[in-house]
Amino acid sequence: MPVISSSACAKLILLGEHAVVYGQPALAIPFSGLKVRCVIEPWINGPTGTLHIKARELQLNQPLQVLPEDNFLRKAVELVLAELGVSQTPTCKLTIYSDIPISAGLGASAAIAVATMRALSAFLGHPLEKETLNRLAFETERLMHGNPSGIDNTVIVYEQPILFRKGELIEFVYPSKNLHFLIADSGIKKATADTVAYLAQQREGNPQFIEAALAEIGRIALFGRKAFEQGDLSALGEAMNANQALLAQLDLSCEALEKLIVAARQAGALGAKLTGGGKGGNMLALITPETQEAVRKALLSAGAVSIYQTNLKGVQDND
Ligand code: MEV
Repeated sequence: MPVISSSACAKLILLGEHAVVYGQPALAIPFSGLKVRCVIEPWINGPTGTLHIKARELQLNQPLQVLPEDNFLRKAVELVLAELGVSQTPTCKLTIYSDIPISAGLGASAAIAVATMRALSAFLGHPLEKETLNRLAFETERLMHGNPSGIDNTVIVYEQPILFRKGELIEFVYPSKNLHFLIADSGIKKATADTVAYLAQQREGNPQFIEAALAEIGRIALFGRKAFEQGDLSALGEAMNANQALLAQLDLSCEALEKLIVAARQAGALGAKLTGGGKGGNMLALITPETQEAVRKALLSAGAVSIYQTNLKGVQDND
């Protein structure tokens, strides 16, 4: 069997996180600046039927069988074997390298699962189709997040901007103008499973207030989608700001994120909000090439521990 390598990108939610879990639309884009890479190779003279996993970022260096049954990587491997009707685990070594920070709102768990399933299925001679890969990756997300919407695995598998709504066909969306973003890490780790569970608990206590806020986030996501497609950068920025205000009302932001968001706006960002699960992790600022340096400096002074940049090419933009 050959040596196979594969990768998967990170993701950014532009509008609609959390509300998307409750059926509202959300807008997400792939973030190819951060990646997971997997290498899988035959383990010559290894114990038959043993798949050894090494993943420094997950502190793993052990045979798959030793991982708990509900470990998402073990599940990812088992799902691929079951899908392909392979009864014997291949004797091989799987190494995972990830630049995507864990518990930071950038889709690390989905990207690790997707890259692993891509590599293993190719190693077994049957690379999975995107639709199948997405279905299986959603199963691993359920283990990680309890009640995921499916947006993370979908945008990571398809690597295209999407308007996502649970249970509906994926809509691919195309910006007409070039879009520029800075992403800043608050340095606070927060598992998405925790913030999703927190909101679910809040919703039980105060359903009317929470439902109204989630519906409003859904409306903002649809307004933002139009702005995204029409290349109306200031409307898109406004949508991000309005979305952030609601996320803060839902107690999904935190002081460190607010500081970064305010700093980005004051330095000229057209819009800024948290991205992903919130209560830590990363924020996202819509900028222009002209404001980029000022916003970057402001984010650093406001305590960003890492800053990344990404652009989306507009379909009608020749710049
Ligand atoms: C996490 O990236 C996005 C959330 O909306 C959870 C989900 O949709 O599964 C917070």
